[in-house]
Amino acid sequence: MIVVSAVDALREQVAQWRSAGERVAFVPTMGNLHDGHLALVRQARELADRVVVSIFVNPLQFGEGEDFETYPRTLDEDVERLIEAKADLLFTPAVETLYPRPRQLQTRVEVPLISDMLCGASRPGHFAGVATVVCKLFNLVQADVAVFGEKDFQQLMVIRRMVEDLCLPVEIEGLATVRDEDGLAMSSRNGYLTKSERATAPALYRTLQLIAVALSTGDRAYRELEASARSELERVGFTPDYFQIRRAEDLAEPTRGDRELVILAAARLGGTRLIDNLRVDLD
Ligand code: PAF
Repeated sequence: MIVVSAVDALREQVAQWRSAGERVAFVPTMGNLHDGHLALVRQARELADRVVVSIFVNPLQFGEGEDFETYPRTLDEDVERLIEAKADLLFTPAVETLYPRPRQLQTRVEVPLISDMLCGASRPGHFAGVATVVCKLFNLVQADVAVFGEKDFQQLMVIRRMVEDLCLPVEIEGLATVRDEDGLAMSSRNGYLTKSERATAPALYRTLQLIAVALSTGDRAYRELEASARSELERVGFTPDYFQIRRAEDLAEPTRGDRELVILAAARLGGTRLIDNLRVDLD
């Protein structure tokens, strides 16, 4: 696997592959790679001849008081895991490479409406940070296809909308959430959990499943279902941020007739904010 941090070296290598007629897939990450990330790399391998992975802890998507400074940086282990997963190139740009200007002067990509609800309401500016870095990375890597996890359902929607609105020539592929055996969605932030928090954490997914069962047996009292899920999460020790049933297509509030729904949740367990979601297709 080639490891580069300079833009020129990245561009040169990808251009070489593309001119040889090879299809290139891209998996952007913030590192501290777990099996969920490796599933994205495996999926990328299925979709293309070459796989480029980036590791960049993006300051623009962290708010004040969030965990940018403490976010786990484990480059040596990540390189080993990517070699095993047969990635072809790892791009590890420095912050100054992607953001040569001070933060307030940086051109940003804003995806209105869907960036402002749910996680965007609790983390103002977060999705502009994500859209901006992903747009820059797409422009640098010039991949044919990019693979993202559905665990970050709202992020995936923001990226799809950005690609559509800005006519970016890249296909977006979503991959189902990878879970530990007890149902907890894999996330780099799971490493922040204490032993007893880790034992409690799967309750987030169990609560999503309970509400999914209620929906599929015909319950349409969305607000009451959300309130009961929040109470259940509080009972086991979470501080819920949101627990919402939305329309899967656009994250709008669902009507009684909507059939394709997604239940999205974010909740704190001690100092760790966990997110998860579950699709419910009533057809
Ligand atoms: O999902 C992530 O790890 C990040 O939000 C991403 C897409 C790599 C952008 O920094």
